Parts: sequence; structure tokens; C-alpha cells
Amino acid sequence: MNCESSHQLSLKQRIATRDARVAVVGLGYVGLPLALTAYDAGFDTTGVDLSPERVKRIMQGEQVISYLAPERISRAVDSGHLRATQDSAALADADIILICVPTPLTPEQNPDMRFVSAAAEDIAPQLRPGQLVVLESSVWPGATTNLVRPILEAGGLRAGIDFFLGFSPEREDPGNDTFDTHSIPKVVGADDPLSRQLIEDFYSVIVTSAVPVSSAATAEAVKLVENSFRTVNIALVNELKIALEAMGVDVWEVIEAAATKPFGFMPFYPGPGIGGACIPVSPAYLSWRATDVGSATPLIDLARHSNDGVPAALAARIAADLTARADEASDPTQPLAGQQILLMGIAYKRDVEDTRRSPALVLLEQLENLGAEVAYHDPFFPRLPEGGEFPRLAGRESVPLTADTVKRYAAVAIITDHSATDYGLVASHAALIFDTRNVFDKSGITVDGDRLIKI
Ligand SMILES: NC(=O)c1ccc[n+]([C@@H]2O[C@H](COP(=O)([O-])OP(=O)(O)OC[C@H]3O[C@@H](n4cnc5c(N)ncnc54)[C@H](O)[C@@H]3O)[C@@H](O)[C@H]2O)c1
Repeated sequence: MNCESSHQLSLKQRIATRDARVAVVGLGYVGLPLALTAYDAGFDTTGVDLSPERVKRIMQGEQVISYLAPERISRAVDSGHLRATQDSAALADADIILICVPTPLTPEQNPDMRFVSAAAEDIAPQLRPGQLVVLESSVWPGATTNLVRPILEAGGLRAGIDFFLGFSPEREDPGNDTFDTHSIPKVVGADDPLSRQLIEDFYSVIVTSAVPVSSAATAEAVKLVENSFRTVNIALVNELKIALEAMGVDVWEVIEAAATKPFGFMPFYPGPGIGGACIPVSPAYLSWRATDVGSATPLIDLARHSNDGVPAALAARIAADLTARADEASDPTQPLAGQQILLMGIAYKRDVEDTRRSPALVLLEQLENLGAEVAYHDPFFPRLPEGGEFPRLAGRESVPLTADTVKRYAAVAIITDHSATDYGLVASHAALIFDTRNVFDKSGITVDGDRLIKI
């Protein structure tokens, strides 16, 4: 038996018996559910995160993510088989290391791979023969091979021979009640057969199924293609909304009817634009890499541009409708001066406590630029945190949702349709409602008079 296969067989066996120790680097929206999933499958699991606050809260079994039950975290921590630490020395003991660090964009909207490089630099000095390293962060095709691999191999160990390396895209969908980390199939890719087989062995026991592909770059591309598909279709449906409205046709009704076709059509719905750490970011990674290799993605770039423009278009639409209803002519540069507007939902999507790249916050700023006084209501954000992409908004507080508060505003705009919101109260008391999510028609809540505008 040669040396390569003895490492592989040993880890394969340790995966089968659950004796392999797992480490997850980065305990965010992706890493923490993944660490819990590995623990649930019977693996002793250590999470490493730079944030002392996050580590402390996990070790205290607190609710760090709204849709993750704190009991699930505390049970795992109390068992002694799941722990969180800031100390990357813990990586030396792990047999399997999963990297789930952020992959944001630079101010120039290019891939920011600093966190991935830093995580690989943390692992490199502790890398030992027989370990398996899997990158899960969304990256450009080729990053595992061209960026992570050289950092890990700098100490002399070779990927696919001394240690194993591959990529498996994270498909976590925060707030999705139907699918969780365990039930979403995992695409797994590596550049050599030993690594690929080990990654498939590992994920096959922690998630419902593993889908092997021929290389790390292929697996990386899968993630970017999935998100670019969404980006392009969201841009398309928002364009259709405007064009069909001009024809006197309701886009929502069209989509519901079109979705009855049992093949060849997948419904996407209009909204206030795209947000989160994934959908707006992945297409930029794909586009950047395409340019890097001498190709181009003009359709994807157009969709990105179109999506970026949605909040401004909505602000202009709200201003046009409100000024059309006003008694006096308004200042064209500050058409919303003196108008108070309440935005419902500022998270980037329903039922999550995440405002990263949220179109609601862009819209809030756009409306204020047009002169409006804007408040928000969001049960997930009693207060807007310091830091982040909108420092000017830090410290603002969610207004309570009562009949009295709702009546106070010239208009209420539904931006993020959290499921616990009392839309009946809004329907009864708001002077005017702008609905970007079709919540009233969908839920059958009627709004009397001409107080509802679907935008
Ligand atoms: N959030 C999602 O819905 C989602 C879905 C699919 C894929 N992804 C991808 O998964 C990756 C992680 O996203 P996320 O939403 O979990 O990010 P996040 O910001 O919620 O969490 C990342 C965590 O990594 C920690 N971290 C950063 N550098 C570190 C290092 N060197 N060592 C240890 N910890 C470190 C941070 O402190 C943070 O807690 C990204 O590439 C993202 O694009 C996210």
C-alpha cells in the first residue's frame, strides 16, 4: 500500500466511524449551521472564529442566528462535542477543516479574497499529512487551486498526496423552513480523485446527498452559476413588472398563471432589489474571473446594473405618486420635503436578521435624499447596529407597529415581507400603502379605497 492511499484509507475509516474531528473556520450564517450539522452527524466539532463576542455567545448557547434554536446550540455545547474558540491552534487537531469565511466585494466591486487568504494562512503552519481541507466560501472558479492551494503547500506538503483539498459550495438559504443545511444536496469538487472521494465520503454522511464534480473550479462555478441565474431572472421580472404595468397588466397575476406550466418556466417575483451576502456578490465574482481569463459576461453585468437601480427607481416612483396626490406643487429637487414615510422591513429578505447589502437601506437613503423623513419598522432590528455599509443610519430605532404610529405617516412602504408582521393593521390604518411584495393580494387582505399601490 502506498503512502497516499494509507492517508486516504485512514481518514475514510475515521469518517465512517465518526472518529474524524471536524473544524469549521468562520461561524457565521453558513459556518455555524454547518458545524451543528457535523455535530448532529456524530463528529466532534470545533468552530474557530475571529470574533470574541460570537465565540462567547455560542459557548453560552445564545440565539446567535434568529432561525437557529438556542437549545440546539446549548445541547451541542453541553455535550462537550461542539465548541467555539478564537484560537486557530485548534486546527492542528482537526482531521477535516471546512472554511466558511466571508467573500465580500472591494469598494471597486471586485472579489475581496482577504478572508479566504487569511484563513488559509492560519491553516498552513498547522497542516499535517492526512488532513482534508474544504473551502465552502463562494469564490471565483480557480480560487481553491490557484490561491488556497499554494498557501497550503508552502510548507512542503502536496495536495492530493500528503493532504487533501477541494471545494464544496455552501447553499444555505437563511430563513428557509423547507430546506436546511442537512437537507440540501452538496456539490463536491476536487482536482484529484483521492480528495474528491474523501470529500464525497464526508458530506454523504452529514447531508442528504453529495454530488461529485470533476474539479474544484467546476464546484466553484456551480455556486456562481446558481446565483447568477437568480440575478438575471430577478432583473428580468423587475423589468417585466414596469413594462406590464404600463400595459395595464399585473405582473404577479401573469407569473402565477405562467407558473402553472409544468415545464420550462420557473417563477421569480418582483421586489425592491437584491441583497444579502450572496446573490449580489456571486455574479461579480463570475464577471471578474471571466474578464481575468479574457472572456466577458455582458448579460450578467447588465442584470447587476439593472438590479442596482431598483431602489432608486422605487424612490422616484414613490415621490411621483406622493407629489401627484399633494395639494401644492413640490420642489423638484426635494419632492418629498415634509413627507413622512414608514418602511416596513429593512432586512435584505424575509425573516432574517441580516441587512447586508439590503435594498431597503438603499431605498431609505434615496427617499431621504428626496427630502422625506423616513422611519422603519422591523422586528429583527430594534436598533440599527454600528458599523456596516450604512454608518449614517447606525442607532436608528424601529418604530412600534400600532394604529397610531401607522396613521402618522403619509405613506407606508412594504419592503421586506416578514411573516410575523400584522398587515391587517397596516391595511386598516395607513393613509397610503406602497407594496413591493404583493403581500395584500397574496394574503387576501383588502385595502379600502385607492390606498394601495403595487410598485
Ligand atoms: N449567508 C448566506 O446566506 C450564504 C449562503 C451561501 C453561501 N454563503 C457564502 O458563505 C461564506 C460565508 O458567509 P456567511 O454569510 O456565513 O458570513 P458571515 O459574515 O455571517 O460569517 C463569517 C464569519 O467568519 C469569521 N471570520 C472571518 N475571517 C476569519 C478567520 N480568518 N478565521 C476565523 N473566522 C473568521 C467572521 O468573524 C464571521 O463570524 C461567504 O463566502 C458567503 O458568500 C453565504
